Amino acid sequence: MNDQTLTRRRFLRVAGVVGLAPLCSLHAAASASKENWSEAFARALERDPMLLGWRSVPADRLRCEARIEGRLPEELQGTFYRNGPAVLERFGTRYRHWFEGDGMLQAFRFDGRGISHRAHVLATPKLTREAAANRRLGSGFATRADGGTGPSRPDDLNVANTSILDHHGELLALWEGGSASVIDRETLAWRGFKVWGESLGGLPFTAHPKVESDGTVWAFGYSFAPVPAIILYHIAPDGTLRRAHRIDVGPMGMVHDFVVTARHLVIVIPPLVFEPSPDDEVLLDALVWRPALGSRVLVVDKRDFDTHRWHQLPAGFGFHHGNGWEDEDGVIRFDHCVAPDATLVTETMRDIMRGMLRQPPPETYTRITLRPDGRSEVDDTGEEEEFPRIAPAVTGRRNRYVYTVGAPSSEAAGWRLRQVVKRNQETGERETFDYGPGTIAEEHVFVPRPVPRVEDDGWLIGAYLDYARKSSGISVFDARSVTDGPVARASLDYALPLALHGAFSPV
Ligand SMILES: [Fe+2]
Repeated sequence: MNDQTLTRRRFLRVAGVVGLAPLCSLHAAASASKENWSEAFARALERDPMLLGWRSVPADRLRCEARIEGRLPEELQGTFYRNGPAVLERFGTRYRHWFEGDGMLQAFRFDGRGISHRAHVLATPKLTREAAANRRLGSGFATRADGGTGPSRPDDLNVANTSILDHHGELLALWEGGSASVIDRETLAWRGFKVWGESLGGLPFTAHPKVESDGTVWAFGYSFAPVPAIILYHIAPDGTLRRAHRIDVGPMGMVHDFVVTARHLVIVIPPLVFEPSPDDEVLLDALVWRPALGSRVLVVDKRDFDTHRWHQLPAGFGFHHGNGWEDEDGVIRFDHCVAPDATLVTETMRDIMRGMLRQPPPETYTRITLRPDGRSEVDDTGEEEEFPRIAPAVTGRRNRYVYTVGAPSSEAAGWRLRQVVKRNQETGERETFDYGPGTIAEEHVFVPRPVPRVEDDGWLIGAYLDYARKSSGISVFDARSVTDGPVARASLDYALPLALHGAFSPV
């Protein structure tokens, strides 16, 4: 069978083996913990306003005109969408992990003069069914249901809370455990699950698809059971699926992001692996840190998904890559914001939900080189950074700049990410802007000018939580001069829970 050919046989093969997520095989019913996390969080919030970032959003819909300081660039017109976990407490029970929060889509509308803000909790089937039953219906990543039956498929738990893909006129809310969700860009309403092809409904689809400059989309999904596997998606610029393929990978770790180069897809599988035991009640219980496995790197030929090879890296856990590219001699280079272990996901993001900040080892900006002969090299800058973004035009190609949020010191107390960072990969130069104490910097997205002349000819747009003033906002930087600070800041009438990722649509 030609790998380029879309066939029913191939889709059935892909879907039949990977169609069930491990969540479904774990126990759904268990007695809830005696500790009241809602009360514990409320008490902690009174002492520490930083925790506003993890307070459940006060209403399903919010709207205001932002107060602008500075001057908005007139050419910057369009909508900045953001997505993140926002409903963090329901039916008197607080979720046991930040990542389980029901998603809320935000739209910041730039009209050249001002910015209006709308936020809309997504009425996913999961949220709608729970509202009708007036209780939680299934155990999630870390929260056990109070009785009842478990979910029958991954999308029964789909909270659509992680990221945004705006592609070929379609706005999608992404969640890596299951399907992408189609969103009405005018009303921000949830419209349905995206089905890429026959028999692919409900399969996991990453929150970090890569869009090349011609509009081609590469994506993956991962599944722990019944077969540990990676699904690959190749989507044409017109939004139609060209290929889907499954690769069985052995011990499967939690994989959040990946890298594309001119010729390859690169997927780092960390040793936070799925090892279920009879006592496990939620998926988080079944994720075990096995550093002896190291981090395994799957390198797949974009032209032929059956052709792939493996590299080995030291054990580490990271969420995000900025970019990757490939030299003419086949050497692959990419970056990773990576920590020495998975404390961030297994403990920190759980305990923050009861108002406890357990500092994880920092994720540091690290450059990785994979050589065609199988050797690999790791260059850790030691600088704590997260949420790397690049100019969209250089996706998969050698980039000079990467934009991250960083920490002034890995020793600082509280939530440390409060800086905006611009890295020059060629000179090693690192420019920073520090929001200062009392503020958390969220992801900052590069938006090119309508006709960019150089790679950094554009703006950086990013959210922040000013917990000292109990207000959320967004900043606009001239990407060529990050150190000068924002050219405009737009503050909202309310403080929002921290979101995860965003995308700017110039329409
Ligand atoms: Fe992410």
